[in-house]
Amino acid sequence: PAANPTAMRRILPGGMVERGGCPFDPPPGLVERRGKGAVQPLPLLNGAEAWLVTGFDEARTVLADPRFSADRMRHREATSLQPHEVEALKAGTLPQGPAIETREDGFFVFMDPPEHTRIRRLLTGQFTVRRMKALESRVTDIAVEHIEAMKAAGDHADLVPAFALPLPSLVICELLGVDYADRAEFQERTAISLNSNTPPEERAKAGAELYAFMQGLVAAKRAEPGDDLLSGLIHEAEPPLTDGRLVDIALVLLGAGHETTANMLGLGTFALLENPGQLDALRADPSLIDNAVEELLRYLSIIQLGVSRVTTEPVTLGGVDIPAGATVVVATPEVNRDPQHWPDPDRLDVLRPRTSHLAFGHGVHQCLGQQLARVEMQIGLRELITRLPGLRLAVPADQVPLRNEMLIFGVHSLPVAWS
Ligand code: HEM
Repeated sequence: PAANPTAMRRILPGGMVERGGCPFDPPPGLVERRGKGAVQPLPLLNGAEAWLVTGFDEARTVLADPRFSADRMRHREATSLQPHEVEALKAGTLPQGPAIETREDGFFVFMDPPEHTRIRRLLTGQFTVRRMKALESRVTDIAVEHIEAMKAAGDHADLVPAFALPLPSLVICELLGVDYADRAEFQERTAISLNSNTPPEERAKAGAELYAFMQGLVAAKRAEPGDDLLSGLIHEAEPPLTDGRLVDIALVLLGAGHETTANMLGLGTFALLENPGQLDALRADPSLIDNAVEELLRYLSIIQLGVSRVTTEPVTLGGVDIPAGATVVVATPEVNRDPQHWPDPDRLDVLRPRTSHLAFGHGVHQCLGQQLARVEMQIGLRELITRLPGLRLAVPADQVPLRNEMLIFGVHSLPVAWS
C-alpha cells in the first residue's frame, strides 16, 4: 500500500485506518493541504495567529533563524498546539475552537540562547563517545533479552509492551543510572504518565510520582555518584545545577527519549512488515540497516506537529508575511516528503541515498539524543529481523490501532507472530 502515493487514509473510530488506506501516509488534514504553499495560514485560532510550514527549506529556516523563538513564554498568547487541536488538524476537522491554552515550562527545550546554550553544552558534554559506546552494548543486551523472552513465551506477542516500550525505557535507566531494583517502578510510572488515554487525575498522580522519583534519584547521585549522566552533571557542572534543574533535565531526557524511540521501533517494524520487498532487501544485506533507519525516520516522521516556534519580529518566510508573536508549526511529515528534495517521496525505499531529513529537527535544538536513538533503532530492528525468522503481522494491517490522536505518531499495539 505504501507504493501508492495518492492513497489518502481515512481514520475510523478506534484509530484504525480504512481498508485500502496507507497507515504511513501523513495525516489526511495535512495531505489535503498539499499544493497550497510551503507556508500556509492555519485558520483556527481565536486571538493567536498561526502558520503551518510544509516546505523543507522554509522549515530549516524556521529552526535555524533566531527570529523564531523556542521560548513559548515570550508571547503568552502563542504556544504549541494542544492535543485536541493536533487531533482535529490531522483529521481535517479543525474547529474554530477556543484560543490555545498557555503553558508554563522551565525546560531547556523551551529556551533560547544564551540560556539554552549553557544547559545544552553541559548535556552535550555528557553524551560522550565513551558513554555512548558503553550504552551500545547495553542496548544489544536489552534487545536480545527481550526478544529471547518473547520466543521463550511462544510464537506471537504484542511488540509494543514486549519490546518497543521497554527497550528505550531501560536505555534511559542506564543513562540516568536508575538502580535495577527501581526499574519496574520507573517503567510503570513512565508508561502511565505518557499515556494520554489514562484519566487526567491518574496521569497527574503518576507524573507527580515520577517527579518525586527523579528528586530521589538526584539526591542519591549527590550522595553517591556513579558512572551515569546524572552523576556527571551533578559533579561537573560549573556553576553547579540546582536540584530542580537536574530533575527537569532528567524528565526532559525521559520525555524526549522514551515515547519517540518506542514509537519508531513499533511503527518502523510495522512499515517494514507492510513493505516485504524492503524487508527482504534488509534481510539479504543487513549492512543496509543504517540506511533503512534514516529512511524510516524520514518516511514516518513521528513528531508530526510537535515542533513549533514563535516569531519575535515580523518575518517573511517563503514569500508569506508573518507578524511578530505568531506560532509557526513545522509539519514534519510533509517537510520530509517535500518533492523538491526527494524523488517519489511517499515511497519507503531503504536503498534511497542518504540525505538530510528533519525528523530530529535542525538548528540549536536539534535532537540531543539522535545518536542514541539511531543505535537503539539499528540494533533493535536488526535483532528483531535476525532473531525472529518469519516475523509477520498477526492481524490484518487495518486492525493495527494507530496513535492518530497523539502528539507522537505510532502504534498502540502491534500483534506479531514468527515461525
Ligand atoms: C529534541 C526527535 C530520540 C533527547 C528533539 C527534536 C526532535 C526530536 C524533532 C527537536 C525539537 C524542537 O526543535 O523543537 C526525536 C526522535 C527520536 C528522538 C524522532 C527517536 C527516534 C531522543 C532520545 C533522546 C532525545 C533517545 C535522549 C535520550 C532530546 C532532547 C531534545 C530533543 C534533550 C531537546 C534538545 C534541545 O532543546 O536542545 N528530538 N528524538 N531524543 N531530543 Fe530527541
